[in-house]
Amino acid sequence: MPRPKALVTRTLLPDALDIIRAVADVEVWPDEAPPSASELHGLAAHADGILTTIMDRVDAALLDAAPNLRVISQLAVGLDNVDVAEATSRGIPVGYTPGVLSKATADLAFALLLGAARRTSESERWLRGGGWQIQFHPTHWLGQDVHEACLGIVGLGQIGREIARRARGFDMDTVYHSRTRYPDAEAEYGIRYAEFSDLLAQADFVMLSVPLTPETHHLISGPQLAMMKPSGILINVSRGPVVDPAALYEALRDRRIARAALDVTSPEPIAPDDPLLTLDNLVITPHIGSAALPTRLNTMKLAARNLVAGLQGEPMEACANPEALA
Ligand code: DGY
Repeated sequence: MPRPKALVTRTLLPDALDIIRAVADVEVWPDEAPPSASELHGLAAHADGILTTIMDRVDAALLDAAPNLRVISQLAVGLDNVDVAEATSRGIPVGYTPGVLSKATADLAFALLLGAARRTSESERWLRGGGWQIQFHPTHWLGQDVHEACLGIVGLGQIGREIARRARGFDMDTVYHSRTRYPDAEAEYGIRYAEFSDLLAQADFVMLSVPLTPETHHLISGPQLAMMKPSGILINVSRGPVVDPAALYEALRDRRIARAALDVTSPEPIAPDDPLLTLDNLVITPHIGSAALPTRLNTMKLAARNLVAGLQGEPMEACANPEALA
């Protein structure tokens, strides 16, 4: 029986690729930049399975171009680039990588929160620019306390819960808002449910941890930023389009909120001349939430195992649409 054909749209660490190579003939897109849509369609024409990243648009056009496709495995927990409903309608299961990257992403969320609160990037830029001329000044570089501050988490999935767990270690007063109330998490992490507008008004730190959906697109725009405290700090570790960038720019420029910290932007990559990058009160990183080596390797291995399971017609460890095979 011929081996199945797998397409992997970006170079993976060898241990993860080996999992796929053990059962399939693998074609790996070799470039740093992703394939264009037409290149991807061409490559997928003979693929039985495809391992994608958030930069690959998996839609009806791709599925039309890949008539043999029987599994999609996404190397991410977010699936906003994948038309899962379309895959389901064609009986194609979609794997993804929840859980394995939640702790690393929550760690990065706290790095951003702490960095914005204590002004680490801003003061480092000043130091490197030769600004540190006086050893100590009692009124220089005053930031905000993190301990005992109020943290508002928007979205209480696995990453949101890991953020809540970390907040306990900082003695934070944590509120959360999500579509569903979670009494188990309230008891486990000592957190309280709040309506969205109450959370925005109460929180010293507003932490976004929601998937990107039509409902969460521009969830934070002018009116929501206006509800935040003037001393408030917004942190986004979810997806860039959850925040309206023009509204955020204005709120930061006019000091209507104190600071923001973004690991995700809209668009990605952010343009070098984007006005947000002119602001000192913005901390920004290039979508590195889950980019810690052990976590990334485990994520790649999970995506590889999901792909192999799909190729072999077995249940995946993490499938977004198990009903596709029902
Ligand atoms: C995810 O897993 O969704 C991360 O944002 C990386 O793509």
